Amino acid sequence: MVGHLSSADLAVIASLGEFEDLARDRMDPAGFDYVAGGSWGEVSLLESVQAWRRYRFRPRVLTGASKVDLQGRFLGRPAALPIAVAPMAFQVLAHPDAELATARAAAAAGVPFTMSTSSSVPLEAVAAAIPDARRWFQLYNVRDLDFTRSLVERAASAGYEALVVTVDLPVLGYRLRDRRSDFRTPRMANLPPAIDRPSERYGGLDRRSEFVLSWADLATLSSWSSLPVVLKGILTAEDALLAADAGAAAIVVSTHGGRQLDRSVATADVLEEIVAAVGGRIEVWADGGLRSGLDIVVALALGATGVLVGRPLYWALAAGGQAGVERALAILREELAVALPLLGASTIDAIERAHLR
Ligand SMILES: Cc1cc2nc3c(=O)[nH]c(=O)nc-3n(C[C@H](O)[C@H](O)[C@H](O)COP(=O)(O)O)c2cc1C
Repeated sequence: MVGHLSSADLAVIASLGEFEDLARDRMDPAGFDYVAGGSWGEVSLLESVQAWRRYRFRPRVLTGASKVDLQGRFLGRPAALPIAVAPMAFQVLAHPDAELATARAAAAAGVPFTMSTSSSVPLEAVAAAIPDARRWFQLYNVRDLDFTRSLVERAASAGYEALVVTVDLPVLGYRLRDRRSDFRTPRMANLPPAIDRPSERYGGLDRRSEFVLSWADLATLSSWSSLPVVLKGILTAEDALLAADAGAAAIVVSTHGGRQLDRSVATADVLEEIVAAVGGRIEVWADGGLRSGLDIVVALALGATGVLVGRPLYWALAAGGQAGVERALAILREELAVALPLLGASTIDAIERAHLR
């Protein structure tokens, strides 16, 4: 394995795709596969990347849009970009500073950081590392609702601004790479050892009952704190409407990065109909396969109010720690700053459906 990149090395990286090879050289093979992989034959994983690329732009000219404002908005409040860091488990696989490094990079870039339930450092440590920055807590139902309630209360008292409740994981997807490598999960720092079972074989059906949530549970869960609830992992207009009716502040249209039900529709292919169904009642965020500023412009044109970026930031963490994640976010910012004037839009809100075909 090779060491982390210097800032001079990072400065010449020009696209997010370059971080993946750098990460492969620096990570344990089973850990790399856990991050890179999807479920079953990885059809959704592949399509998650390809589907954004099938759209073509209809750029408008002579709009005078040379000076651009890239400010985004999540939960009604501004962010430096229309981008947030997706919740991703076990970041110690990429770097010893784990979530602390990613969170600091997000804070430096002015974008919200989502902390996974399955993190390598405790949620309170990340809160202390970025006391003034926007942070959300991603919630899994762990073991039972009593323990889950304790996580919600800890997140609220540590100043997390919202709960991102992941609804597409009643059971882990069937992940071939992890079965073949006999991948063992590292320790989950938010869980006491009696509940956490590190080194247990990953992906077994024995964990099924730990994750299952219903719409009724959601009402209970929302009552435990005053935090807004975001539902992550919605893929149909039907569920988007149920989410809005249930009082969610936002939804994330997501296939969990192709890691859950393989052959699910790609986010890019359902986003528009979900946005139309929701009709502006709640924010609609999107994730999965976003690998450049152009992909993000497509998502925004299809009606997403913001996006989450996952694996590219994990690779950047492996390549260069906090500085690596900062570089990856800077690349996205620069790509957006070039794309908007070329499209003829001077603000994020000015990107519209008519910019695409
Ligand atoms: C290594 C890894 C770990 C993940 N862990 C979580 C998690 O703990 N909770 C969650 O809601 N989503 C998790 N996800 C899904 C991401 O939040 C996100 O939906 C997905 O990665 C987006 O696709 P992308 O990686 O193509 O950007 C994980 C994804 C990866 C790659």
